[in-house]
Amino acid sequence: MNILSSIIYSGNPTKDLAELGKARFSFAGGFPNSAFFQLDLIVSSFEEALRRDPSCLQYGSPRGYPKLIEAAVQLAQKQDHVKIGEENVVTVSAGQYGLHLIASVLLSQPRSKVIVEAPTYFGALEAFKDYDPQYLSVPLEQDGMDMEYLEKIVNSQKNIKFIYAIPDFQNPTGTTYSLEKRKKLVELASKYGVPVVEDSPYKEMRFKGESLPSILSLFPEGTYRVNTVSKIIAPGLRVGWIIADDGLTNKLVEKKAAMHLFSPSATEATVARYLETAMEWPRLVPIEVTEQYKLSSEAMISSLNRSMPEGMSWTNPEGGFVMWAGLPSGMDSEELLKSHALGNDVSFVPGIHFFADREQAKETGKNGMRLSFSSIKKEEISQGLGALAQSINEFNQQLRR
Ligand SMILES: Cc1ncc(COP(=O)(O)O)c(C=O)c1O
Repeated sequence: MNILSSIIYSGNPTKDLAELGKARFSFAGGFPNSAFFQLDLIVSSFEEALRRDPSCLQYGSPRGYPKLIEAAVQLAQKQDHVKIGEENVVTVSAGQYGLHLIASVLLSQPRSKVIVEAPTYFGALEAFKDYDPQYLSVPLEQDGMDMEYLEKIVNSQKNIKFIYAIPDFQNPTGTTYSLEKRKKLVELASKYGVPVVEDSPYKEMRFKGESLPSILSLFPEGTYRVNTVSKIIAPGLRVGWIIADDGLTNKLVEKKAAMHLFSPSATEATVARYLETAMEWPRLVPIEVTEQYKLSSEAMISSLNRSMPEGMSWTNPEGGFVMWAGLPSGMDSEELLKSHALGNDVSFVPGIHFFADREQAKETGKNGMRLSFSSIKKEEISQGLGALAQSINEFNQQLRR
């Protein structure tokens, strides 16, 4: 730990996120910006939901609060053009729990094989960890997984339980699958009989370019989709739902009931009411909100261009909350964080945490970092990235000595 910093970095990203968020310039946590929550609508939805159906305060159904399930069915129809029934939905206490619940059913046999992107969302690795899976990591490119690599894996390995994919504004890279890669992913998954777990919490947070069809819409028969309102409404609500075939949802409902009977119906009722209103808007997330994230991402790109040293690279997302930056070769981002960045009051999440494969983490991950632009004030981005550039330069000088 840097003696100039009081931030304790343990190397465990789940624990460290709150700690790293204490830096004056935090590019660490990928949280939505609280200033953009639709507070009045959340409050009125809560009141209306409870008044119209006070039974939402009573014990509820393990599958979920009926009006939220109804909203999930409508959204699948409206946004994914997929016709599903209530039997295809099970509500969950947001995405993280959804991933854990899916893993509890699909990865129940020890050393089950699961394909993940490299890098991938570290929370998913945490969610799957309890089931000790065997990871097959596929390198992620600017426009989605390396499909040749994926084909080699699905062609050579038997009994893969699922492919975990984050197709839109991926966490941690901010990259989005092209239409071609979406189609190729579906072609391979269908040919080799491997389901896709689609986790796309940022899809509605597009701030430029054209929206692309979801994996669910291209492959309804083979996709399990994890939905969450954490990014589109607020994470404190802890509401989401899984869409899957009824064979799987029945098993998920059983597991869920065993674990916590049912998820909070009063909160689900609030979200259902909110969604009834939001589904009438031209977009589920008002353009004024995504516009703010756009401005922040633009401020990031122009500050990176201005301040970063030679040899650095970064992604340029069309939505979401995060981007990925690569340091000049040979530089270790975790070392940079500990030895210089925290001392300069700037934080980010080191790349190694986003890899299932330890070797890949050391080779590819250690050079990269996730930079979130969702919570930092726009006015502070330039100064914050200036502090990061200074840290990189100091670290570089130290390495040359
Ligand atoms: C890709 C991805 N999946 C799932 C989650 C979990 O979010 P939540 O549990 O709040 O829905 C996150 C949160 O950052 C995420 O980035």
